[in-house]
Amino acid sequence: MKVLVVGSGGREHAIVTSVAKSKRVDKIYCAPGNAGIGELAECVPIPAMDIAEMVAFAKEKEIDLTIVGMDDPLVAGMVDAFEAQGLRVFGPRKNAAIIEGSKAFSKDLMKKYNIPTAAYETFDSSEDALCYLETADYPIVLKADGLALGKGVLICNTKEEAQQGVKTLMLDKQFGSAGDRIVIEEFMTGREVSVLCFCDGKHIKTMTSAQDHKRAKDGDQGLNTGGMGTFSPSPFYTEEIAQFCMEKVYQPTMDAMAAEGRPFVGVLFCGLMITEKGTKVLEYNARFGDPEAQVVLPRMKNDIIDVCEACIDGKLDEIDLQFEDNAAVCVVLASDGYPEHYDKGFLIDGLDTFKDKEDYYVFHAGTKQTAAGVVTNGGRVLGVTAKGEDLVKARANAYAATEWISFDNKYMRHDIGKAIEEA
Ligand code: AMP
Ligand code: GLY
Repeated sequence: MKVLVVGSGGREHAIVTSVAKSKRVDKIYCAPGNAGIGELAECVPIPAMDIAEMVAFAKEKEIDLTIVGMDDPLVAGMVDAFEAQGLRVFGPRKNAAIIEGSKAFSKDLMKKYNIPTAAYETFDSSEDALCYLETADYPIVLKADGLALGKGVLICNTKEEAQQGVKTLMLDKQFGSAGDRIVIEEFMTGREVSVLCFCDGKHIKTMTSAQDHKRAKDGDQGLNTGGMGTFSPSPFYTEEIAQFCMEKVYQPTMDAMAAEGRPFVGVLFCGLMITEKGTKVLEYNARFGDPEAQVVLPRMKNDIIDVCEACIDGKLDEIDLQFEDNAAVCVVLASDGYPEHYDKGFLIDGLDTFKDKEDYYVFHAGTKQTAAGVVTNGGRVLGVTAKGEDLVKARANAYAATEWISFDNKYMRHDIGKAIEEA
């Protein structure tokens, strides 16, 4: 069969790598793709948000299955547009992707259906938000309602910081209309875990857990980024917590979306915080995580096509989802300066070292193929993933493999997965 993957990051490289392992697949396209994806798939220069072009391409090439990796086209209704043309597509429809597209929607859903999450209030006017801040407890968390490239969350330690935050989001509109409405929520402390779930509208099956490292610098210092590295599984996500979450979070979320007339089909990403008062939802995403996919998918034993099709057909209950009994760590190699200013266009050396090395992967994110070779072309450049028998070995393997790659400006955190020492 012919498969199209929509997106161009490390997550899509991981998805394409899984698709390429399927015996059922003869041809893979990726739009727009990147230099690494180009080794496994034919990259097509259609922007991920050009829904009409994407549909036209899928029709012309008679694509059997399209997998949408990115949030923006999902929230904009790409799945609905494919379905309207009778094309098979994996991902939530627009009315379900809103669970990621609007934080106010997701918070109201959780409140209505008693799904554990931080206490919150929603504001459409900056005056009301500022008034609320007068009597609030600090620290406090401000969130832009809409999509903001993972950067629309501000943790404010004082009233003054929060007042400035309201200004940034609602008046200066740093994230455009995403900040027309904001959610102000209780600050929680605890360990974060990402649990990605396959969903068919009725049934939900969890993948193995992962933990991201969002801050740019070691010791969780510096600015929030798209994610600097991950490990899987999380030793802090115990059987007991998993069972609690299935009963109180995952299945109730599926049922709530169905009851609202918004059945969720695709990958539901539950960002959780394990607090002293129990495990609570930080956020939902409507897609695989990046860089969570880079540690979760390499450990999945099932054929990804079988699982995606079972979700589309409402038959996920027939799938025995299985993961390898090992561990994986992904270290992101970034351009020094990310997530602020950085230079790009530097030649990358050492990519070939990963060829034919089982259990080692180099997932491309911001790269570009040029006549001279592959060059850096973004803030997050590559994700180096390695497996190991356990987390300690996977971590050592991943950091050893980061040394195989060199480029000017190479930057990485050195403490990805260090937390496992406390487990
Ligand atoms: P989100 O995009 O909602 O996942 O938020 C980005 C990051 O902000 C999360 O991964 C957390 O580290 C942090 N965060 C979000 N909400 C809260 C909260 N209520 N309390 C503490 N930290 C939070
Ligand atoms: N790693 C967090 C995300 O994909 O949103």
